[in-house]
Amino acid sequence: MTVPSLIDYAQAAGETQSKPAPYLEIYERYFGHLRDRDVAILELGVADGKSMKMWRDCFPKGTIVGIDLFPPQIDEARVHIHQGAQDDRAFLPKVSQEHAPQGWDIIVDDAAHIGELAKISFWHLFKNHLKANGVYALEDWGTGYWGNHPYYPDGKYFSEQSDETLLHSLANRLIKNAPVEWPKLNLVQKLLRRYQYTRRFKSHEFGLPGFIKQLVDEIGRSDWTHPEYGVPPSRSSSVAHERSPFSSVLVTPGVTLITKAGA
Ligand SMILES: C[S@@+](CC[C@H](N)C(=O)[O-])C[C@H]1O[C@@H](n2cnc3c(N)ncnc32)[C@H](O)[C@@H]1O
Repeated sequence: MTVPSLIDYAQAAGETQSKPAPYLEIYERYFGHLRDRDVAILELGVADGKSMKMWRDCFPKGTIVGIDLFPPQIDEARVHIHQGAQDDRAFLPKVSQEHAPQGWDIIVDDAAHIGELAKISFWHLFKNHLKANGVYALEDWGTGYWGNHPYYPDGKYFSEQSDETLLHSLANRLIKNAPVEWPKLNLVQKLLRRYQYTRRFKSHEFGLPGFIKQLVDEIGRSDWTHPEYGVPPSRSSSVAHERSPFSSVLVTPGVTLITKAGA
């Protein structure tokens, strides 16, 4: 029997398809090479169990585990469903110890889509229960831009209108015709330029998008813990220079994939 790919599921109609096709195309790219391995897959948020069946079919040697506040009854070989909350730090280790004592290969968060809860699950599972080179997927992160949704109360509306302050626009106007070369600027121009360059860029900082931006900071960890350039001299003795715990963060419309750095 041929093993279906995640692309087959992306192309399947209604009944079997649980996730949008673009998510599955990205998952195929990232997970396709694991098809014949005895992978351990954890999904937070099971609903009626469609995705559990998809993982089971596409990874015939895999152990497929789901958790949900209100889990369905599913009685299938290699599929295990547990009732519990995604942010329960006593429950997550129990499930992980029972089914993936060596760590998960893939974790998918498709549960509450609330930044605060996703952040708790992420850091707990990422640090303690995801294998090196394992991948953690955060689905539907764009819901954090939905300012008025009944289920996603951490969302706020976002507008890309400039947030330039009066002082920044004044600095821009004053510095506009100054020479670009730093040494040629006089002291006032240097101060204005420094002020102009250190403005804060407008960005959505709420819900899952806000959390994902924190993950981007984690990618830059080696820079902001850099003893010479990243840490202010007053703190340099107390901050250790560290590499990022991630080898990559792939942000796509709908799903973000974080790959854990190798050991
Ligand atoms: C979008 S559905 C999951 C769909 C499923 N992953 C699929 O692809 O077929 C979200 C599920 O997350 C569950 N859920 C919501 N908040 C949760 C929480 N805090 N902890 C665990 N599960 C939660 C809901 O009960 C619901 O069944």
